[in-house]
Amino acid sequence: RVVAASAALVEKGNHRHFMVKEIYEQPDACQHTLTAYVDPVTGHVSAPGGFDFASVTRLQIIACGTAFYAGLIARYLFERLAGLPCDVEIASEFRYREPAVTPGTLAIAVSQSGETADTLAALRWCQAKGLKTAAIVNAHESTMAREAGMLWPTHAGPEIGVASTKAFTSQVTALTALAVAAAAQRGRIDAEEEKRLVRVLLEAPRLVGESLGVEEMVQALSLEISKARDVLYLGRGAMSALAYEGALKLKEISYIHAEGYAAGELKHGPIALVDEATPIIVIAPTDELFEKTVSNMSEVLARGGRVILITDEAGAAHAPAGVSVIIAPTCDPLIAPLVFAAPIQLLAYHVAVQKGADVDQPRNLAKSVTVE
Ligand code: G6P
Repeated sequence: RVVAASAALVEKGNHRHFMVKEIYEQPDACQHTLTAYVDPVTGHVSAPGGFDFASVTRLQIIACGTAFYAGLIARYLFERLAGLPCDVEIASEFRYREPAVTPGTLAIAVSQSGETADTLAALRWCQAKGLKTAAIVNAHESTMAREAGMLWPTHAGPEIGVASTKAFTSQVTALTALAVAAAAQRGRIDAEEEKRLVRVLLEAPRLVGESLGVEEMVQALSLEISKARDVLYLGRGAMSALAYEGALKLKEISYIHAEGYAAGELKHGPIALVDEATPIIVIAPTDELFEKTVSNMSEVLARGGRVILITDEAGAAHAPAGVSVIIAPTCDPLIAPLVFAAPIQLLAYHVAVQKGADVDQPRNLAKSVTVE
């Protein structure tokens, strides 16, 4: 029976591609991952196996591809919530540049497969330097899972589509929970605030589910985007990392050139690319930076650019005229990177389907890169 159950997990079911099936599995993946970090009865959040974030002075996250973007999101959370300095680096750079490590650093490798050659080498390098290490991995029998000092699992289940979706949101789920744990352990939040943030975390699976409701809106825009040669993605704060991830998803499966930028960088180069043929996807829930992003959109519109804004209800009400709006659920900023992930994934998916691309097996890409 166990064999039958796991075989069912890797069937496409009613879905046309594994990628869209996995996008739809995200509420469950998020839920299952949370159970490893959050005790719903006590409202207490902690690293699996126990770890005291008050015992470290710095975090070094190392990863490749989509996992690197999960790490970038985590940096915003660890620094803002827990006051814990956090560096994030692409493993292939980290491993060769002879980084200066400080004692008291915890190195965290983030990897779906647990086998990516560069991430594994970077993890081993950190261990050789005597650093504490942890691995956030989805494949629990993998080399990183075995070799890291601590295994902090994601529970996304098997991911077949080469372009990562549910593994990404599961990584973000685990890292968000860990940031809340770190904030509590380092005395940056009191027990009441910890309980509130845990309630927010526990709402994430439902809101991620609701965010899938944007599919029709996204599909309606996909034909237009499929005709573009270049697409820009903009966001601020943790949403800048989602902008990078959105651009990566689009280029991976639709072969359209796409770039993600922190919206504040618009004036420093990418605005030169703005014309009516280059869609600009803006990811901006209403937060304290929203007005600044509205200015960025106005700058693009004034130059004849085409803007698609992914926001919430309140943001939609303040969108400049002429912008196409995709409305995602309203949520606490803590979980916005989770709730806003599905819209960008579905957008990439529908554009690729429009183009007739091989969504699950994009050309030249491998699910797991175990050689350099
Ligand atoms: C490959 C995959 C990506 C993935 C990256 C890192 O490039 O195509 O989807 O993000 O490797 O893989 P990992 O297994 O370490 O998360």
